[in-house]
Amino acid sequence: MEHLDQLLKDAAAAFAAAADMNALEQAKAIYLGKSGSLTELLKGLGKLDPEARKSAGAEINRCKSAIEQALEARREALRMAQLETQLAAEALDVTLPGRGMGRGGLHPVVRTQERFETLFRSIGFEVADGPEIEEDWFNFTALNTPDNHPARSMHDTFYIDGAKDVLLRTHTSPVQIRAMQAHAAKFKDLDVMPELRIIAPGRVYRVDSDATHSPMFHQVEGLWVGEDVSFAGLKGVIVDFLQRFFETDDLQIRFRPSFFPFTEPSAEIDFAFMSGPNKGCWLEIGGCGMSHPEVLKHGGIDPSRYTAFAFGMGLDRLTMLRYGVNDLRLFFENDLRFLSQFQD
Ligand code: PHE
Repeated sequence: MEHLDQLLKDAAAAFAAAADMNALEQAKAIYLGKSGSLTELLKGLGKLDPEARKSAGAEINRCKSAIEQALEARREALRMAQLETQLAAEALDVTLPGRGMGRGGLHPVVRTQERFETLFRSIGFEVADGPEIEEDWFNFTALNTPDNHPARSMHDTFYIDGAKDVLLRTHTSPVQIRAMQAHAAKFKDLDVMPELRIIAPGRVYRVDSDATHSPMFHQVEGLWVGEDVSFAGLKGVIVDFLQRFFETDDLQIRFRPSFFPFTEPSAEIDFAFMSGPNKGCWLEIGGCGMSHPEVLKHGGIDPSRYTAFAFGMGLDRLTMLRYGVNDLRLFFENDLRFLSQFQD
């Protein structure tokens, strides 16, 4: 039965040539299907006499099962190949280091702000807030800053296009006015108004940019309004704050006469460390003074009954000093190599 051998060879070759399951099923149909070559041979057995039919039948069946085996082997080989491809495509390198869950942390300036708030809350101050896009009246006029004051020039202040009296606040001092107005309104029916003690930390904006100036920076405003508020009280609060902020009594603090339109008298706050790497060099960290009567009036507070002191300090400045950072711009570049040094 030579042609059976040939048939088996052809079938095995056709199966081997089938590149995927689909092609293999088609090849199978040619040999084992309803009208496949083997099926046709089996049908033809009926024409033979019984003896010949028996031996031919046995031959054909042997051939059939050999073809079936070849088919099954090819199926298995294709299945394995498919699995290999899939495994290779979905390969995971379990030895790669994980991405990890960074713990994150607070920005150093935020840490300073929180420290500021904690220290001032402990002496009865509340934390107040105001808009960063501010009206000219709150930022300048109410703070007794005349129309011709240099701070109003386009050089220092970011104005908003098309909105004449709106600007990015140049300092946190407008929060003084907003807080006084709210306080005065709240207690307008009382004979004596309770004291107002607030700090107002936040972002401020000026047209300025170098190693120690950024167009956006942070200040903290302070305001204490009451019946006997004095410059002595102001000095006490500032000295106590700086000692607690820097965790040392080894500081010298100087109130250097200065000028601000909204305080009279006014002073610049300077201090120097008496030990450590910055020993002996004077650093300016803010302005302060007794609130000008015009300012109290704009806040709805009677300057003949109440006095007030105010101060403003640079949060970024204090952060640089506390952590020994010498370039302000590092705070705003969002470089994690820098920022992650401030985590607990
Ligand atoms: N607003 C002032 C500034 O930005 C600082 C200041 C605040 C001075 C309060 C006196 C009183 O320079």
